Amino acid sequence: MLTREQVMEVVDSVTAAYNAEKITIRDVMVRDRQVSMTVLGAGAAAQPALEASLREALARIGAETVHCRFRTEGAPAAGEAAPSPAAAAAPAAASAGASKAGGPAPVQGHGAGLANPLLDPSSGVQFIAIASGKGGVGKSTVTVNLAVALARRGKRVGIIDADIYGFSVPDMMGIEERPDVVNERVIPIEKFGVKVMSMGFFVEDNSPIVWRGPMLGKMLRNFFQEIEWGELDYLLLDLPPGTGDVALDVHQIIPQSKEIIVTTPHATAAFVAARAGAMAIKTEHEIIGVVENMSYYVSTSTGEKEYVFGRGGGARLAETLHADLLAQIPLGAPDNLSTDPDFAPSVYHADTETGKLYLELADRVLSKCSS
Ligand SMILES: Nc1ncnc2c1ncn2[C@@H]1O[C@H](COP(=O)(O)OP(=O)(O)OP(=O)(O)O)[C@@H](O)[C@H]1O
Ligand SMILES: [Mg+2]
Repeated sequence: MLTREQVMEVVDSVTAAYNAEKITIRDVMVRDRQVSMTVLGAGAAAQPALEASLREALARIGAETVHCRFRTEGAPAAGEAAPSPAAAAAPAAASAGASKAGGPAPVQGHGAGLANPLLDPSSGVQFIAIASGKGGVGKSTVTVNLAVALARRGKRVGIIDADIYGFSVPDMMGIEERPDVVNERVIPIEKFGVKVMSMGFFVEDNSPIVWRGPMLGKMLRNFFQEIEWGELDYLLLDLPPGTGDVALDVHQIIPQSKEIIVTTPHATAAFVAARAGAMAIKTEHEIIGVVENMSYYVSTSTGEKEYVFGRGGGARLAETLHADLLAQIPLGAPDNLSTDPDFAPSVYHADTETGKLYLELADRVLSKCSS
């Protein structure tokens, strides 16, 4: 077996041959014979040679694949200052008037530097990342409604809106309040029995976030370490579109995460979604299955299904990924009234046709995760 120590020893000796003071290696992960790491401080010109040297040296001790993520010079290394939800939430919560006196009882602090017990594989929490190569296919809608359906089935569920730039979960669930901070830990907002954490809670007036790539992974880590999740059975991650760094960060932070790939029935969408599937396979995330969203439209006049975006994309993708097609969700926004007490623009009620389909999806996911 290849150990992290063996890998570190080789990595140190290889980087020593380069400009060692400037090069920092972090996030080294060794799983079976697969190695991945983040390399900071290597100039663009030096990167190919450094990567080749690392590959060659690590192959000699038995590594089958070596993945290096190069980050730009001057990017913060692990442990350096990075955005902190707890720090950001304090003023945001205060300004939103959400810090209630007599709020939740003080929680036991786990120092921010300690690993969160949630991430320990023995915690029993099932992590499910919702991914897709393509934007706008309904990842966030599926994440939110699957989470609500799992909660309706009695599970303790959380959502991490890992789309740090394009967060949409709070809006979709109709969440307007900001989280409280207790003992420097952020209490997630609970709605429909689902605990939610999103960058959207820490941004004033929807202002755009301009962070450098490495901040994203750090932010994601903070979402585990600084958030008081309590006991959970399922934690769903709404990923940004594409197969970029966030997917790799998720792989490094939660190697045990499973994935659901979302597509529309269109052939091109399914083809692009297959890339996200290939990424899941590369990162060894088990694919639970495929959800085809916007599959058909039920005509109000005839009651017939109309396949406005084509047909078969989900089934083909499932076949390509050797996975099951878990659900086909029709087109049609929830028929919710903004005057409803618990109004959420994107959450389907349990007694609607689509609400029932999401409950069936939840049942499939439950049986896949327990087997
Ligand atoms: N089945 C559906 N019927 C009708 N509208 C839908 C359906 N699913 C999603 N939508 C709408 O389509 C838009 C895109 O959905 P959503 O934001 O969930 O996609 P996404 O894949 O998360 O997008 P992004 O890549 O931008 O994160 C939203 O406005 C959403 O309300
Ligand atoms: Mg989204």
